[in-house]
Amino acid sequence: MLRRLHHEQPESFAFTPANQAWAEAQITKYPEGRQASAVIPLLWRAQEQEGWLTRPAIEHIADMLGMAYIRVLEVATFYFMFQLQPVGSVAHIQVCGTTSCMICGAEDLIGVCREKIAPAPHQLSADGKFSWEEVECLGACSNAPMAQIGKDYYEDLTAEKLAEIIDEMAAGRVPVPGPQNGRYAAEPLTGLTSLTEHEGGRTQYNASVQLAVDTGDTIKRIDGAEVPLSTPWLGGKAAKAAKKPAKKATKPAARPAAKADSTAQTAAAATGPGKRPEALKAAREGAPDDLKMIKGVGPKLEKLLNSLGFFHYDQIANWTDEEIAWVDQNLVGFKGRVSRDDWVSQARVLAEGGQTEFSKRAKY
Ligand code: FES
Repeated sequence: MLRRLHHEQPESFAFTPANQAWAEAQITKYPEGRQASAVIPLLWRAQEQEGWLTRPAIEHIADMLGMAYIRVLEVATFYFMFQLQPVGSVAHIQVCGTTSCMICGAEDLIGVCREKIAPAPHQLSADGKFSWEEVECLGACSNAPMAQIGKDYYEDLTAEKLAEIIDEMAAGRVPVPGPQNGRYAAEPLTGLTSLTEHEGGRTQYNASVQLAVDTGDTIKRIDGAEVPLSTPWLGGKAAKAAKKPAKKATKPAARPAAKADSTAQTAAAATGPGKRPEALKAAREGAPDDLKMIKGVGPKLEKLLNSLGFFHYDQIANWTDEEIAWVDQNLVGFKGRVSRDDWVSQARVLAEGGQTEFSKRAKY
C-alpha cells in the first residue's frame, strides 16, 4: 500500500504544554547523541493528540530530536499504526480481518462500517465523526471477531453490537470495552471448567477493561493531563517535574533543563576547533529574531543558540568558516547542524527581509 502524506495539511503543530513536557522527558531516557530513539513514542503521542500524523507534527518532532525530516517521515510512513490522513473526530475503528475474526464474522463488521461510516476505509463519515479500516490480527483471536476503537478492544462482536457501539459513541457515550457477549475475559462461553476462579472477585471487569473504565480515555484525544508525568529514571528531579502545574511543565523536564542551565558554562568553557563568533548578552531591543525560521532550528536549538548569545539572523549570516566550525562543535547534542542545513545562507536571506522555501511554510 502506498503511504504518503495527506494532500491537505494544517499550517502548524504544537504539543499541548503537558504533552510537550512528556515528550521532552521521554528524550531524557536515551544517552547523548541517541535522542532519535524517542522518535516512535513522540510520533505516537502526536497522533494521540491530533488523531493522525500531520506534516508539521513530523517536522516538529524531527526538530526536537535533531533528525532530518526525511528520517522521521520514513518511520511515519513505514508503520501502519501511524495514520497519515484525518480520522473521525469521535473515533477511528480498526476491524480485525484476519483468520479467526474473518471466520467469526469480521466481514459483517466491515459491512456495518461501510454502511454507517463510509464505503471505503480511511474515508471520513459524512459528519466527520468516524472513520474505519481493516487491520491484521490484533492478538485477541479467542474473542473474535473484534475491533480496536481508540485505545481499547471491543470483543465478541456481532454486526448489531458494533452498530450499537457506533451509535452510542456518536451520542457522546463510551460503551464498556472488552467482551460484548457476557464473557468476563476469554473463558469458555459456557463457564469456567478447570480454573474455576478468576480475578472477578476483585474487580467488576477483567484487568484491561477495568483499566480502560478507570482511565476513561478509550476515545479521548490525549492532552497529557490524563496521567501525571512520571520520570523515575531521573530520580528526585523527576518528582519535582511531575508536580509542576501543566503551564510550567512546558519547560523541559529535569535533564534538558539541566542542560539548558549549564549552557552558559558550556559556552564559557567551550573549546575545540574554530573561533567563537561574537555574541550578545541579550537580544537587541529585547526583540530576538525567530530563529526557528531557519530550517533545522527547532525550539530546543533556538533556546541553545540564545543561551550562546545568538539572537539575530544577521549574527548568523556573518559567521565565517572558522566561526561555523566553532558553533558546529559547540552545539551540544546538535553537532554539525550549522553546516548540514547551511544556516548561514538561510540567515542571509532572512536578515535582508526575504523568505526561504522553509520559512514560507514554517509557522510555530
Ligand atoms: S484474528 Fe482477529 S484478533 Fe487475531
